[in-house]
Amino acid sequence: MELLRVDPTHPDPATLRVAAGVLRAGGLVAFPTETVYGLGAHALDVHAVGRIYAAKGRPSYNPLIVHVADAAAAQALVSDWPLSAELLARAFWPGPLTMVLPKRDTVPDAITAGLPTVAVRVPGHPVALALLRETRLPIAAPSANRFTELSPTTALHVVESLGDAVDIVLDGGPTTVGIESTVVDLTGPAPRVLRPGMISAAQIADVVGAVDERPVHVEEGAARSSPGMVDRHYAPRAHLVLFDDATRHEILARATAEAAEGTRVGSLAFTPLPVTDAHVMPRNAAAYARRLYAELHALDELDCELVLVEMPPAGAEWAGVRDRLERAAR
Ligand code: TXA
Ligand code: MG
Repeated sequence: MELLRVDPTHPDPATLRVAAGVLRAGGLVAFPTETVYGLGAHALDVHAVGRIYAAKGRPSYNPLIVHVADAAAAQALVSDWPLSAELLARAFWPGPLTMVLPKRDTVPDAITAGLPTVAVRVPGHPVALALLRETRLPIAAPSANRFTELSPTTALHVVESLGDAVDIVLDGGPTTVGIESTVVDLTGPAPRVLRPGMISAAQIADVVGAVDERPVHVEEGAARSSPGMVDRHYAPRAHLVLFDDATRHEILARATAEAAEGTRVGSLAFTPLPVTDAHVMPRNAAAYARRLYAELHALDELDCELVLVEMPPAGAEWAGVRDRLERAAR
């Protein structure tokens, strides 16, 4: 594994050429996107895609997102480009929105886990975009962590999780959005959010009209159409307990009792709590999301066994954060 530092806004072209060469040859390159670090491989090279699943220890029923440089490159992978896709691409690309569309035959089943659809996204990070432009290839990239572990928001997280399973890690500093992209399915009668993120259902509805708000359920073992179907996905090692105003006192009393028995207790809350590792989180959803995984990684580093998490308020802008907290607490 080679760790190469790049400027987050003006990445060195020579470094990008090296990384692009590795991708063209079927290698794995981890790179920063604005959401989390991705583990990239040439999307049309079945062998390279197989290396992603092996490196992550990820079951092959979990389909991958294909990253492209622009909407035209996305259209080359899909067999239908509805008006909703055009409008969403204009509104949010490059950015943290992934669209699920019917795939062309050229997209291998290894990418889509046999589904007739493919997930595509133009990432907003200058390093990711420059790499995509340099390779002129579609790049499959799940989050660059081992299966069921926390997603990485720094290059160090990637190195710690994947080590030598990856050929190159491009270190472009911490990511700015901090949680994974919103995944929206455009193959049904109305757009449907499969995975909430920092682009909210309300923002999508503003662009395309109504969205289908029904919750998503998938049969165990079937091709997963959204990531949350896997229990304890996005999970830290510590046990997370969520609380709100109604349960604050009861949860704190329980934590105090456990701490007395030697359990190391941390917290992520909007005010400091009387626990060993009290982390105060911002009341702004974007700022919270940017820090969330780094805070959870840090609490794991401290060997916290129990983490008390204050539930953020209801509201569309918090949906992605609430979703990740609920999953991490399972
Ligand atoms: O922000 C992100 O989306 C990051 C960065 C690296 O781009 N990527 C990411 O990839 O989170 P991953 O593999 O950890 O999650 C992608 C999720 C999959 O778990 C899958 O459920 C959904 O996108 N997905 C992929 N292809 C799909 C398809 N054809 N239909 C429905 N959902 C799909
Ligand atoms: Mg992931």
